[in-house]
Amino acid sequence: MSISYPTRPTVTRDRQVEMWRRATRSLPGGASSNFRAWGEETVYVDRGEGARIWDLDGNEYIDLRMGYGTTILGHGDPGIDDYVSERMRRGVSFSLTSEDEVRVAELICEMTFCEMARMTVSGTEATMHAIRVARGYTGRDRIVKFEGQYHGVHDYALISVYPNDVSELGDRSNPLKVAWGRGIPQAIAETVIPVPYNDLETLRNVFEQQGEEIAAVLIEPLLGNAQGILPQPGFLQAVREMTREFGALLIFDEVKTGFRVARGGAAELFGVVPDLATYAKAMGNGYPAAAFGGTREVMSVLPDKVSHGGTYAGNRVAAAAATAVLRRVRDTDALERMDAAGRAIQAGIGEAIARRGLPYVFTGVPAIFGVVFQEELPADYRAWADSDHHLYDDIAVRMRDHGCFPEPDSREPLFVSVAHDDPEIIAGVVEGFTVALDEALDARARSLASARS
Ligand SMILES: Cc1ncc(COP(=O)(O)O)c(C=O)c1O
Repeated sequence: MSISYPTRPTVTRDRQVEMWRRATRSLPGGASSNFRAWGEETVYVDRGEGARIWDLDGNEYIDLRMGYGTTILGHGDPGIDDYVSERMRRGVSFSLTSEDEVRVAELICEMTFCEMARMTVSGTEATMHAIRVARGYTGRDRIVKFEGQYHGVHDYALISVYPNDVSELGDRSNPLKVAWGRGIPQAIAETVIPVPYNDLETLRNVFEQQGEEIAAVLIEPLLGNAQGILPQPGFLQAVREMTREFGALLIFDEVKTGFRVARGGAAELFGVVPDLATYAKAMGNGYPAAAFGGTREVMSVLPDKVSHGGTYAGNRVAAAAATAVLRRVRDTDALERMDAAGRAIQAGIGEAIARRGLPYVFTGVPAIFGVVFQEELPADYRAWADSDHHLYDDIAVRMRDHGCFPEPDSREPLFVSVAHDDPEIIAGVVEGFTVALDEALDARARSLASARS
């Protein structure tokens, strides 16, 4: 279940390897998440500032992961951190509600389609509760999700997330349910119906056969966990209509897109209004703030009919951070600057790829995007598997030798922040990508030549 990446020789790693050895004695895999347990290559961070991070060995990188998309304003934004510490001095956790929490709900309702919202601590809890609200509201159990989408680590949607071998997903018109790892009860897996993204025909078949049992379609409106694959024109609108036709709810999982792709998230960007949505990452600039919300009608099952709670839900640290971040996103050009930084990086790396005569296309939007070495946009997770993603994966690993740190897996998009809106950072990313691209192409040519001889 953990992921391993090849060793790159030029980055010093002595202290991190030592830390990894120490960590593995008490932390399984040496990290508190499978996603960053990279064997001996596990990275231990020391600090971050703006768009840059430093690891324990003192290697400096331009960060292109930004905490899997959390840190939209840059690491250690003084305005946010000062506001949080000022509020924290009044006490952190009371399991009583504070004005901070009310402010967050008000801001979410002002900026998005939501009419009511509740805070959670993580994106996982947000999607878990949105699913329960949908089930409680409709009285139905089944949830439709899309292949290649990740909705957190609860059991309810860990199906057909990232199989490396897509043949496990079965026939696209009748997809199999592939549980991610052991421990997911079969009975729960049975409630999930996976469908290829952008595939309206399969979705309609599913609704025609099981429509009366489907509580909701849970969808990342842009595949933030599969390279940023985009909805094809009309896809989200058609999903919206189909859910209405069959009496199911539409849940937008905006954990990666919320307050990043537009002030009102992907719902605003694509002009489609769901019944429920989940938010996390960007709303806290790294502090563990998350929420789910929706129409007054659907959210009215709370507090009396559906369980939702949490000792830390709406705690002061998270609520103060979210208040400060959402105000910044609402009142300043933060998102426009992030978009401009993403566009400038895309222009630079696009030119480098084109100069080498390779086809390419960008998935996602400039603030969260992927690079695919082909002319047409991939439509779903199966198409990602068919693309030349190995070239990107190799580039991403090599970029770390050249001062940039993207996730070394093409399924995870590149994330920029407001702090990337800086000519030096943009030039650093373009240069890191270009050198890594040349090295990767060279390595490929050498391995082809040696295979031939
Ligand atoms: C779309 C989506 N939903 C839910 C989650 C889970 O969020 P968290 O890691 O905060 O539990 C993630 C995390 O990456 C995500 O990308």
